[in-house]
Amino acid sequence: QAGPLVLGIESSCDETGVGIVRGTTLLSNTVSSSMDEHVRFGGVIPEIASRAHLDAFVPTLQESLRTAGVTLEDVDAIAVTSGPGLAGALMVGVCAAKALALASGKPLYAINHLVAHVGVGLLDMPENRLPEKRLPENRLPENLGALLVSGGHTEILRIRSITDDVELLGSTIDDAAGEAYDKVARLLGLGYPGGPAIDKIARTGNPKAIRFPRGLSQPKYMGTAEEPGPHRYDWSFSGLKTAVARCVEQFEARGEEVPVADIAAAFQEAVVDIITSKAVLACRENGITELLLGGGVAANSRLRELTGQRCRSAGITLHVPPLQLCTDNGAMVAALGAQLVMAGIAPSGVAFAPDSSLP
Ligand code: KG4
Ligand code: ZN
Repeated sequence: QAGPLVLGIESSCDETGVGIVRGTTLLSNTVSSSMDEHVRFGGVIPEIASRAHLDAFVPTLQESLRTAGVTLEDVDAIAVTSGPGLAGALMVGVCAAKALALASGKPLYAINHLVAHVGVGLLDMPENRLPEKRLPENRLPENLGALLVSGGHTEILRIRSITDDVELLGSTIDDAAGEAYDKVARLLGLGYPGGPAIDKIARTGNPKAIRFPRGLSQPKYMGTAEEPGPHRYDWSFSGLKTAVARCVEQFEARGEEVPVADIAAAFQEAVVDIITSKAVLACRENGITELLLGGGVAANSRLRELTGQRCRSAGITLHVPPLQLCTDNGAMVAALGAQLVMAGIAPSGVAFAPDSSLP
């Protein structure tokens, strides 16, 4: 086993994560979630998340070190999410990381949470990947793209270098896909977090029962390959959310039972259809032949399935991380940190501040 031993810390939202990698090999990934404490509010309460990080950090660190069978002394570098995310939540992880770095004399790397969602796909993990093919060790494929779908972002990216050259090809112009899942779940009375709840109930519904709009799919937005429209590779999910609200209201106004499973399935089909069709289009028109799927919504079963199918038809090799590495965790931070160390990039020092709106 080769490569630097890197400890990664994640605290941008409601998951306290500490993960450890050696190069591209995953050694441990311990996550403590404060999700249960937010459920009754129907969303993450920043103050509660921050306090939960404080309580969870030391036990999560200890468990992660124990699982990996290493001590802090063995670690070559520490990496921590510096943004984007909830300011107070980020602060806890960043302060903890700085304290560890100062106390142990280890170099510290500030990590962009979004790039980490992509970087986790570079870990050498054969299982659970849709395609049979694995990424070659320590080498980025040429013509690599990333489809990042989380609670805060929906983006298609070209990755020339995971450490310093990530180009945005398209993104949502309003809600993120995960946000749409959470809001629609609320409308349907499915509770929080909405993504996994819709994913589950949609399996029992008919996705063709209702046809919901696909945002920004009209010719005036799409244009053509030669003359692209203003939003060829962009998404919009706020109209879809409104359409679901209207649909629910109509059933209620008629005094009929709301067909929750059908609505969930039809909503999910609309989201997944437009995400995958635009992502594959962006790949084809930009010469991207390998695509990494990342972010919390990458845990969605239908998104994984349809992205796989459409990439196969388009001759694109898809890399999908295992489920537990899709939602927020420390291993993804460690994975990107190791890439920075291996690329010879200088550490961040301890003078940086968390940036809640880091692009
Ligand atoms: O990446 P993530 O853990 O946190 C952010 O950085 O935003 O993503 C969280 C989002 C939430 O909106 C959640 O509802 C969604 O990912 N999510 C899912 C599934 N699991 C999590 N959405 C759809 N299907 C899922 N199975
Ligand atoms: Zn995330």
